[in-house]
Amino acid sequence: MAAAADRDPRFAHPEQRDGPVSRADGDGVVIEPMRRRHVKAVQAIELQVYPRPWSVALFQSELALRETRTYLVARIGRDVVGYGGLMMTMTDGHITTIAVDPQRQRHGIGARLLLALAREARVRGAEALTLEVRLSNRAAQALYRKFGFAPVGVRTGYYQDAAGTEDALIMWAHGVDSDDYARLLDGLENRQ
Ligand SMILES: CC(C)(COP(=O)(O)OP(=O)(O)OC[C@H]1O[C@@H](n2cnc3c(N)ncnc32)[C@H](O)[C@@H]1OP(=O)(O)O)[C@@H](O)C(=O)NCCC(=O)NCCS
Repeated sequence: MAAAADRDPRFAHPEQRDGPVSRADGDGVVIEPMRRRHVKAVQAIELQVYPRPWSVALFQSELALRETRTYLVARIGRDVVGYGGLMMTMTDGHITTIAVDPQRQRHGIGARLLLALAREARVRGAEALTLEVRLSNRAAQALYRKFGFAPVGVRTGYYQDAAGTEDALIMWAHGVDSDDYARLLDGLENRQ
């Protein structure tokens, strides 16, 4: 389905822009589209936070799929401090990854990234959002709940790495195209 969606003109990116998606806040955090020049810094964070990090090549190939993907970075000055990704499949938006530099966590950057991805998903016609998260990853689950995600099931043995095997919690947020969801996002933005 993703391959078909890649060719579907409905998924053309609304704005192939270089500028910020969200301007600097009080902490100087800017959210903007991920570019090839960001990938080295992105992968440096990836290596710190994920037991099975994506390779530079995988990020590059994701960036090339512009019709169905949106990848964003959070930047402070020239430093990339976080990133996140969205894959559209028809009217479902899949959060493919989200991470914040361990030195910069708990400062609202993850929430800002997810806010921007959820807004992008709405622009692209998403009716629902979904993701997988490790059962043990309470921090991320708490973030997702704030954005209306609820657990719907478990994928057994989804994560396999040197540390062993772990199940994934599958979470969905429905009605993301609704006015209620827009209000939820506005409320989360105002809390930043
Ligand atoms: C998950 C992650 C992206 C959150 O980014 P962050 O910038 O630290 O999160 P924020 O500061 O925006 O937090 C937003 C909300 O998420 C929840 N949250 C984030 N970190 C938390 C933690 N360590 N413990 C409990 N709740 C947490 C809280 O509800 C928080 O709101 P609050 O600060 O008002 O309590 C970050 O912890 C991370 O990069 N983790 C490693 C990679 C990862 O696990 N990614 C998710 C894979 S599915």
